Amino acid sequence: MNNLLEINDLRVNFMTESGVARAVDGINITIAPGRTLGVVGESGCGKSVTSRAILGLVDSPGWIESGEIMFNSRKGVVDLAQLPRNGRQINAIRGSEITMIFQEPMTALNPVLTIGDQITEPLLLHEKISRKEAKERAIASLAAVGISAPRQRFDEYAHNLSGGMRQRAMIAMALVCNPSLLIADEPTTALDVTIQAQVLDLMNELRQQFAGAIMFITHDLGVVATMADDVIVMYRGKIVESASVRDLYRNPLHPYTQGLMRSVPSIVNRGETRLQTIEGSVPRPTEFIRGCAFASRCANVMPVCRESVPALAPVSGPHKAACFLHHSISEERADAA
Ligand SMILES: Nc1ncnc2c1ncn2[C@@H]1O[C@H](COP(=O)(O)OP(=O)(O)OP(=O)(O)O)[C@@H](O)[C@H]1O
Ligand code: SF4
Ligand SMILES: [Mg+2]
Repeated sequence: MNNLLEINDLRVNFMTESGVARAVDGINITIAPGRTLGVVGESGCGKSVTSRAILGLVDSPGWIESGEIMFNSRKGVVDLAQLPRNGRQINAIRGSEITMIFQEPMTALNPVLTIGDQITEPLLLHEKISRKEAKERAIASLAAVGISAPRQRFDEYAHNLSGGMRQRAMIAMALVCNPSLLIADEPTTALDVTIQAQVLDLMNELRQQFAGAIMFITHDLGVVATMADDVIVMYRGKIVESASVRDLYRNPLHPYTQGLMRSVPSIVNRGETRLQTIEGSVPRPTEFIRGCAFASRCANVMPVCRESVPALAPVSGPHKAACFLHHSISEERADAA
């Protein structure tokens, strides 16, 4: 396997009071080593559940219904979807080969341990190195994320740090083991705007030096433009468009992506002046929908859209969209070939 990660037809469900929620509804994702994949979509579209499935963190009342999550680990290719939860194999991978930074640093940082203890912990657990060596690596990692006086910070607690500094400490913790995949789930959403920009700049800088791949989850297409190589757009548990960043911004194909574009200030400001929101909301994942899940909000809806579910299909090279507006184009091309 040349890719670092290959997700094939993954389905993740949750049992809820209103029935089974199909949170992730048959998605395919590939990430090549060292690439940054942006994952965008409104709230509830399945972005975090996808990342939790990769990390083996889908908890009851949720379960992986079917599909594969093939990961090229240091010990060979493993299907993360099949590993027992909290078993030896997933514990060896999570925190060293695949690490995560969350929206809220306090959920990842332990208030009763020093920052230093928390950053050295994965090193001591996963690598055969001395405490002294681990301490030096941790201090270097704190310095690399722009924490001043890292030796002093090493012995401090999370509550001694500002929100922005906590986020930097969490990034240091996630990078200290040189993971081959870093998952960042809305890493700046909880921060104020100035700090947000600083942390994004830092992540972009680290991205240039960091050899691993990154899965960057955000609801903001403007952020993805600066952070990612490739993008997938998720809508109600499915991928509705996937492309390189360049192709997606030049020529967004799916009406949902076009709607998201019109609601991003940095993109709208180039030409238009008025921000638009997409009317309506994402249908609940417990609801049965016969055709395209976006039909209730789509200005281009056609009769076929209410009858069948559009598959994610190539439209131009690797640029794919799940929309009947574009299917005819790709099908005609296939016929002509
Ligand atoms: N613990 C849970 N119990 C029940 N349903 C859940 C649970 N976690 C997630 N879900 C379901 O999975 C769907 C997708 O959730 P997910 O957290 O992946 O959304 P998201 O795209 O990350 O949204 P956000 O931008 O708000 O973080 C939700 O709409 C919800 O129906
Ligand atoms: S398939 Fe139809 S309803 Fe769905 S996004 Fe395309 S045009 Fe709109
Ligand atoms: Mg989320």
